[in-house]
Amino acid sequence: MTRHFLNLSDASGDAIAAMINDAIDRKAARAGFPKGKPDADRPLADHVLAMIFEKSSTRTRVSFDMAIRQLGGSSIVMDSGSMQLGRGETVDDTAKVLSRMCDAIMIRTDDHAKIEQMATNASVPVINGLTDLSHPCQIVADLLTLVEHGKSLPGLEIAWLGDGNNVLNSIVEGAGLMKYNVRIGCPEGYDSDPEFIKRARDAGANVSIHRDENEAVAGADVVVADTWVSMGQEHAEAKLAAMMPYQVNDVIMEQAKADALFLHCLPAHRGEEVMPSVIDGPQSVVWDEAENRIHAQKSVLRWCFGQL
Ligand code: CP
Ligand code: NVA
Repeated sequence: MTRHFLNLSDASGDAIAAMINDAIDRKAARAGFPKGKPDADRPLADHVLAMIFEKSSTRTRVSFDMAIRQLGGSSIVMDSGSMQLGRGETVDDTAKVLSRMCDAIMIRTDDHAKIEQMATNASVPVINGLTDLSHPCQIVADLLTLVEHGKSLPGLEIAWLGDGNNVLNSIVEGAGLMKYNVRIGCPEGYDSDPEFIKRARDAGANVSIHRDENEAVAGADVVVADTWVSMGQEHAEAKLAAMMPYQVNDVIMEQAKADALFLHCLPAHRGEEVMPSVIDGPQSVVWDEAENRIHAQKSVLRWCFGQL
């Protein structure tokens, strides 16, 4: 059966652990290589990844391109606006055509139903490069970053401050699979998807929602922030005002554990969701997190092709 990666739960907790270990090993094995040099074993030699962007991207675009090159393959990167998809060709037909021409499809889109439709009609792996609902590849990179920095995932206390968005949904989903806990500090009206929370809780993770930002971060091992206005959302003053107490600043970081790490998927808005002293400070691991998109996605690709 074709392995799609639309959400983290398309893989098991064991599979995600295998992806993290594989990423650590492969990253070490290519230390010192020029970035475009393929890995010695070229495990996806001659494979072509088609990428479709219906929203802006820097990291996802470049990291998937670098990932497939390092695995020995290549990519075709398309913005939907310059594809027939942008002129009304159906997702179904696009999926069928790309499946005949390419070995895998990565898509960044708005409505999650579109990526499900793509997967239903594709005969090659379809990978979620972000939808309005979730951003699973980002979380594989985040978890890799935490493990690399010495954190053990089971029982880890991850605090999220801000909007209940796609990135948070995937962090919550990961909790059920990897057995860490999530404390969400979020204003009323901006909560994350209740289904993701329910599934994580049913799987034994502790997911708590706090209106008090201090309560959310107290004693946390990791503090995570993301933009208050995601792509496709309106830049509403009322929302920014509601989010302001959840800004990650030095006072907030002092309430987390002394060795707490700060994560942000980027792009960041300094002075909004995070202060420069935090994101550019000693507890921040955001540049490792960004680089790890390459290493994590190589493992996601390998998993999709049954190599993990
Ligand atoms: N974090 C992330 O997905 O970044 P891009 O929007 O630049 O791809
Ligand atoms: N939540 C953000 C993540 C960007 C990588 C967005 O969807 O715009």
